[in-house]
Amino acid sequence: MSSQQNGYAGPPASPHLWSRDGFNGDICVTARPHPIFAYTEARGPHAPHRLDLSDVELADRDDPAAPPTVIATSRNEVSIAVSGRNAPTPFAWRNAENDELHFIQEGELDYVTDFGTLRAAPGDFVCLPRAVAYRVAPVSTPTLRVIVETPGQLLLKPPAPFGMLNLSRDVTHPDPSLSSRVDGPTELLVKAYDGITRYTVPHDPLAIDAVLGGQIPVWKLNLTAIQPLTYLPHGGPPGSFAETTDQDLLLYTLSARPGARPPIHHNADFDELIFYFRGPGAYGALTSPGQLAWTPKSVTHWGPTEDVPQGYLAWLCESKGTFRLTAAGLAAAQPMETGQFGVQPVPANQTPVTI
Ligand SMILES: [Fe+2]
Repeated sequence: MSSQQNGYAGPPASPHLWSRDGFNGDICVTARPHPIFAYTEARGPHAPHRLDLSDVELADRDDPAAPPTVIATSRNEVSIAVSGRNAPTPFAWRNAENDELHFIQEGELDYVTDFGTLRAAPGDFVCLPRAVAYRVAPVSTPTLRVIVETPGQLLLKPPAPFGMLNLSRDVTHPDPSLSSRVDGPTELLVKAYDGITRYTVPHDPLAIDAVLGGQIPVWKLNLTAIQPLTYLPHGGPPGSFAETTDQDLLLYTLSARPGARPPIHHNADFDELIFYFRGPGAYGALTSPGQLAWTPKSVTHWGPTEDVPQGYLAWLCESKGTFRLTAAGLAAAQPMETGQFGVQPVPANQTPVTI
C-alpha cells in the first residue's frame, strides 16, 4: 500500500527500526505489511503525551520565592521543571546533588553565579553544575524556561572536537568582572535529595574578586550554534552534543535536519523528549513555540519529516530512566499520536484517556 493509499504523508511506512543504546547500539531493521505506530487507545502510564510549556501552571510567575514546577520525573532521578519567573530570585540557590541544564524558551535573564554574571536569551542552554550557587534576575519578561536536573555530570561531548560545536566561539561563561554585590545577610538555599536547607549567611556568598585558576564550570550555548548531524542524501540518526557521564541523558539538536523521514522506531533504551523551540517551519504537528513531545521507550513512533525547507529549531533529550509526567505535567498534557506528534484522536463516544 502506498503512503497516499494508507492516508499517511511521506514515504512508505517501512522500514521499521529497533535499536539499542539510543542510536549507537545494535539494530534490526524490518519491513512490515502496514505501519505499526498508530493506536486507537492506550490505558496506563506508559503512553506518549505532548504539552505546551505555556499551559503549565507556574507558581513562580507570581511568587518569586516559589520553586519551578516539576512536570516530569524519571526512575533515574532526573526531573524536568518549567519556570516562568518574572522577578529576581530573593535568595541564592545551590543544588547539592544535581547538575542543572536550563533552556531559555522566552525572555532574557541574568544568571548571577559564583563565577560572575551570564546573560541568557531565547535558545540558550545554561549549565549550572552541582555545588554552584546562583540567583536569577529577569531582564526582559515574560520568561519561560525548561530546567533539567540530573544526578549525573553534564558534559559537552560532541562527536569531534570541532564541527558540531565551535567550543571557543560559541560556548561562553559568566563574566567574573560582573560580580554579585549584595549588602548584608543573604539567604542561601541548598537543595539535596530530602529537601531544602535554608542558610542565612552574613555576606553575599556569590561575591567574587577574580578567578585565579581552572575553568569556570558554568557555560552557555545557543541551540542555533549547534550544527545538526545527518547522513546525506538519505538521512540517519542525529548525533548528541552533550551527555551525562553515565550516559543516562543524551542531548541533541533536532533542527530541520536534511535527509529522508526517519523510520518507524522502537527505542529500546531511551525515552525521547523533543522540545520544539520555534519555527518558522513546523515540525509535523508541532507548530507553536514551546511544545514538548514525549515518547516513552519501546513505544512505536515514526515522527514527522525533519527536512523542512522553512527550517525550525528543536532539541531532543534522550533518557535511559523511564519518565512519568507529574500531576502538574499531566494537567497540561494531551495524549499524542506518534506519526506527526499531534494530539491523539479520541475514539468516538470516549473521553480522553488519562493516567
Ligand atoms: Fe526515535
